[in-house]
Amino acid sequence: ASYDMGGHDTYMHKEIHEQADAVDRVLRGRIDDRFSTVHLGGLNLDAREARRIRRVKILGCGTSYHAGMIGAQMIEELARIPADAEPASEFRYRNAVVDPDTLYVAVSQSGETYDVLAAVQELKRKGARVLGVVNVVGSAIAREADGGIYVHAGPEVCVVSTKCFTNTTVAFALLALHLGRTRDLSVRDGKRIIEGLRKLPTQIAEILKQEEQVRELAEEYAQSRSMLFIGRVRGYPVAREASLKLKEITYIHAEAYPASELKHGPLALIEPALPTVAIVPDDDLLEKNRAALEEIKARSGKILAVAHREQEKADRTIVVPKNEDELDPILMGIPLQLLAYHAAKVLGRDIDKPRNLAKSVTVE
Ligand code: AGP
Repeated sequence: ASYDMGGHDTYMHKEIHEQADAVDRVLRGRIDDRFSTVHLGGLNLDAREARRIRRVKILGCGTSYHAGMIGAQMIEELARIPADAEPASEFRYRNAVVDPDTLYVAVSQSGETYDVLAAVQELKRKGARVLGVVNVVGSAIAREADGGIYVHAGPEVCVVSTKCFTNTTVAFALLALHLGRTRDLSVRDGKRIIEGLRKLPTQIAEILKQEEQVRELAEEYAQSRSMLFIGRVRGYPVAREASLKLKEITYIHAEAYPASELKHGPLALIEPALPTVAIVPDDDLLEKNRAALEEIKARSGKILAVAHREQEKADRTIVVPKNEDELDPILMGIPLQLLAYHAAKVLGRDIDKPRNLAKSVTVE
């Protein structure tokens, strides 16, 4: 593909900077202020059917799987429906029990990933209802699904996904709000989430203004042999995605762990040469996360925090704007896209086409 690079040196850089506009697009025309909900025309799911859903199972690969993890938490929090995400590639090989009261959601930027498509086809063969959360209009997964949400991120050329990841998490917020409002989510909470959604584009622009500061940090972190990414509950999928992004384009080894699991193993790795990137939202788990930072500091580990305010225990903090607790994960990974990008640049990597990877894996 060859789209205009608009003065950017790579598609990745261009696509990172397109995120405020992209989020604007996924929201456009969908918000219903009168009933504090959203219209999702392509869902093909009426309120009575929505109320019968007993579980939500989200399936995707790679970055799309991570967006699905965030989506599952939003659905569980806002709609109070048990929800989880699983790599589609695993799901299709484990002869999973297909349950008629479960809503299955297939997530894919390209809409062509074979592992996801195969999972969708197997689900449909067994009579399940499958929705797609897809970027490419008219793609195989979009056609195969019973309905869904287009994420409208626009064309994404860089092999690693940035703007589509962000838009997919926003699409999940819309789905969670919609399902919530057919169930027990109050008008007031619906309003609160809508207000939060409307703030996203401005807040993304604010984060991207810190690029120079992140670039300086990247120079330092690019020298690491390995990095640890931690987060708890809402922060965990953010850590997973940031770690994947770093691996893919810098080839630096990175591992993501729930902060709560540190003491059950990975604490043994902590030493000055292993930096930790910690996702520290200002939510009800703030104190718990601070305690984790303290554990790392006590073992001379270097810490970079992404947080809503300066973290004392961290060596450096990237401060991001606060949104509603449930929506914070949409924003917290964005500075880490920049970190991965600038570290890859320092190392002279082929950012748009990392070795051994393809934009979409359409084969078995
Ligand atoms: C590129 O390597 C991506 N980061 C990769 O993990 C991708 O998210 C995955 O292959 C799924 O692609 P899809 O969203 O097009 O289905």
